[in-house]
Amino acid sequence: MQSFGENIWTIDGDDVRMFKLLPFTTRMTVVRLQSGAVWILSPVQPSPERQRAVDRLGPVEHLVAPNKIHSLGIKPWKALYPSARVWTSPAFSQRHPDIAVDAALSNDVETPWSGEIDHCVIAGHAVLDEVAFLHRPSGTLILTDLIQKHEAAGAPLVWRGVKQLVGVLGREGGVPRDIRLSIRDRAAMRRSIDTILSWDFDNLIIAHGHCVKGGAREDVGRAFNWITSV
Ligand SMILES: [Fe+2]
Repeated sequence: MQSFGENIWTIDGDDVRMFKLLPFTTRMTVVRLQSGAVWILSPVQPSPERQRAVDRLGPVEHLVAPNKIHSLGIKPWKALYPSARVWTSPAFSQRHPDIAVDAALSNDVETPWSGEIDHCVIAGHAVLDEVAFLHRPSGTLILTDLIQKHEAAGAPLVWRGVKQLVGVLGREGGVPRDIRLSIRDRAAMRRSIDTILSWDFDNLIIAHGHCVKGGAREDVGRAFNWITSV
């Protein structure tokens, strides 16, 4: 487990293959709420070791799918903790009608963790339906696919080239070019990004690649410069 401050950790999962070919790393974020309940974002495949690590923190009460692609661990963790509530991005159920959802997140939805974790649905995109989160006590911004910084080491040459083209390779990384090119309503997306940038954060957790502990504001500002500077 990697700590990002008091009561917030990441746990890396096994790699998955996108389109049965392209290797993608997986990572979940675990927060212990003030109530003692455990909140898991983008759960990876459970393993006995991962389950033990989570069990040490408290009862699992919330499983969150931050976008419609990150569905991997929702069902298996729900099977392990049947009383946990499942929260998802707005379009999640359209893609996963087989997964029972307690509530889809919108900017108006009241959550049991409000005051500790803020959320913002990224609006204006044709495909991506990501929800961004701010863990206030640790000042941590949690994104999933919106910013990616894939490790170059160990990746096959072709895959490294693809990541370079898409603008997500290395510690700088950024917002994938395919996401930038498929915006439906730029003004709406800009408002969402402005909301994120108005949050008080210093750390950045992302699902794919290098996270930032301390000083993340500059890094995130640079990643969104393509939309905030025009
Ligand atoms: Fe992803």
